[in-house]
Amino acid sequence: MSFRYLERLEKTVKDHETWRTKECLNLIPSENRGSELMRSMFMTDLGNRYSAPDRFYRGTRYLDELQALAEEIARKVFNARYADVRPLSGHTADMAVLLSMTERGDRVMSVSPDNGGYPGVTHLGLGKLLGLENLYFPYDDHAVNIDPRLAAAALKAKKPRVVIFGSSFIPFPHPTKSLSAQSGGAVRVYDGSHVLGLIAGGEFQDPLREGCSLLIGSTHKSLPGPQGGIILSNSDEVFSKVAGKIHPGIVDNVHLNRVAALAVALVEMMQFGKAYAKAVVQNSQALAKGLASRGIKVRGAHLGYTKSHQVLLDYDLGRLGGFAERLEKGNIIVDNGGRVGTSELTRMGYGAKEMDEVADLMSLVMLGKKPADLVAKSVKSLTRQFHEPKFVLRSTPKELQ
Ligand SMILES: Cc1ncc(COP(=O)(O)O)c(C=O)c1O
Repeated sequence: MSFRYLERLEKTVKDHETWRTKECLNLIPSENRGSELMRSMFMTDLGNRYSAPDRFYRGTRYLDELQALAEEIARKVFNARYADVRPLSGHTADMAVLLSMTERGDRVMSVSPDNGGYPGVTHLGLGKLLGLENLYFPYDDHAVNIDPRLAAAALKAKKPRVVIFGSSFIPFPHPTKSLSAQSGGAVRVYDGSHVLGLIAGGEFQDPLREGCSLLIGSTHKSLPGPQGGIILSNSDEVFSKVAGKIHPGIVDNVHLNRVAALAVALVEMMQFGKAYAKAVVQNSQALAKGLASRGIKVRGAHLGYTKSHQVLLDYDLGRLGGFAERLEKGNIIVDNGGRVGTSELTRMGYGAKEMDEVADLMSLVMLGKKPADLVAKSVKSLTRQFHEPKFVLRSTPKELQ
């Protein structure tokens, strides 16, 4: 009996691994592919150990060193005075910020979920749980961005306690600098969950130098790290308040195998971040152009479509869900919201030429020009050529060992 379960378990995992890593075009912008070295960190003893700031656990000398090292690397990559790698996810980082920076009844302004804002911080998520009053930036649909003029007026009128820039749908940099300067005494936070890999590579925008006290987010979307979260800051006061809330209230076990994997991904960003981030943006623009030239509606055409890892399709939600379902049958994986992400394909070595091929395959399915199962065959022959992540480190060079 137990062997049967084991067999099923192993088969399910293997089937998933084969399908998603060898046979699919993975275009979900929240996902990415870790290097072998990064993934190998998960299999170490680190994943079975505890360490805690109150020194309750013994035997942690290397664990403590590892966490300090990961935070040192993070500070370098993001040019930040402070880093905390303990949050287990982007959402946990958001929670740490809101729990430490707000009280019941405080106002928090962010991008509305109706405009692609992250629902987790709003009246649908933490805002409700923490009794906050959620307010939303006025949004300019045509610019696919926060409306800077109306948002400045809203900040002046509403005086929120916390302002959160960053978003789940984010093709263009937010007007963080001008709005930070007009946000009065608000704590300014940039939730870079989606664009952290681009920020690490010096593309997109630089929130810690655009008036934000905190840059937080997931470590696994455009940043090709393990699933987890991070908090970065240049402000003594703000950082110590947030970091001070994490243990024992928000995170107990830090998952040090994740921290080691994150450190590997960050070293990879140190080495290849610039080239990777540039390639991601170029690929997004090539994909958007390829789609548009085949008659697929893409948002932001007048602005060059995108400056991030995301291409936003311009259809109503019902249509988008239908497209996503059909594309999945063709082994092309996107979400139901019409975001198409290029981080993972870039990581796998796809360039602008292949993006045009991807656009072609997508359009054949979306426009009903070819049956999805036939497209799946073409997808498999394309993915066969890109089976190893690029922009990766294998191990310490021999001469340094
Ligand atoms: C802007 C933003 N913040 C936070 C999160 C939550 O991230 P995680 O899944 O790492 O908890 C998301 C998730 O998609 C997001 O888009």
